[in-house]
Amino acid sequence: MTMQTNLDNESLEIRLLLEAIYLKYGYDFRGYAQSTLRNSLQRQKAAAGLPSISAMQHLMLNDLVFFESMLMDFTVNVTTMFRDPSFFTSVRSDILPGLRERTPLKVWSAGCSTGEEVYSLAIMLHEAGIYDRARIYATDIDQVALHKASLGVYPIDRMQEYSHNYRGAGGEHSFVDYFCADDHLVMMSEMLKRNIVFSDHNLVSDAVFGEMDLIVCRNVLIYFDQELQTRVLQLLRSSLRPGGFLCLGSSESVKLRDFDPYFEEVSGVERIYKRVECKRAELRLVDCQRA
Ligand SMILES: C[S@@+](CC[C@H](N)C(=O)[O-])C[C@H]1O[C@@H](n2cnc3c(N)ncnc32)[C@H](O)[C@@H]1O
Repeated sequence: MTMQTNLDNESLEIRLLLEAIYLKYGYDFRGYAQSTLRNSLQRQKAAAGLPSISAMQHLMLNDLVFFESMLMDFTVNVTTMFRDPSFFTSVRSDILPGLRERTPLKVWSAGCSTGEEVYSLAIMLHEAGIYDRARIYATDIDQVALHKASLGVYPIDRMQEYSHNYRGAGGEHSFVDYFCADDHLVMMSEMLKRNIVFSDHNLVSDAVFGEMDLIVCRNVLIYFDQELQTRVLQLLRSSLRPGGFLCLGSSESVKLRDFDPYFEEVSGVERIYKRVECKRAELRLVDCQRA
């Protein structure tokens, strides 16, 4: 007797490809949103002139360079300085005052891409007078993006946009104070770089990053399916100390407050949450179960 699933052939080939990537290279994309992966694979299949996803699988298994280029296309690195300026205004007014006394102050930018978010956070902490005591852990799965982040070098033609966002976020100085420039490029100042640690970390398969005061994981979960989002949120929660803050992107579909008694909402619009103490979490759990 034949058993049939309702998957079309291409979906099946994508599943098999993701399984093969996991088994061969250890990268687990099986819980990523299918639509983004499908678009990326179709683009790459056309660019490589291949007839099918199965043919890509063969190439990927036998050619590391091809696999690495595939990987780079899976990860969407779009970012900017002070992305969504109103979010940074909210960090300034709703979060930083509560972190003034923390020493050391531990901040994690998870999925930092090419680093613009990290330098934006460093500038905010500097302007709040607490950067000397801070350490920012900047992590991503994409090695190329991470290397760019650690260099902190950006095209000069993006400075107008960065500067505009910085002012929108309530920046207190002139943005030019934070980099030096030549005709084409700018390099972020050493003063900002000195308290940032860049490292490779995969939110899907790597361990908890301990006792953070602030975790910023914006525009990353949107690429995961619901089950993986829940798993990664648990990892982020376990990486936060009670009283610490978690910031998600404003376009994120998860609404933490609705199902996680360990979080209190600080700003619904900006998706900012505070991890509550265990006792209060137990009470909230009872409330959630009653509701
Ligand atoms: C769109 S960028 C977001 C950058 C920045 N957080 C922002 O909001 O502007 C998404 C980043 O998430 C990273 N990413 C995707 N999957 C990841 C994973 N499993 N672990 C860590 N980072 C991941 C990608 O490499 C990419 O750099």
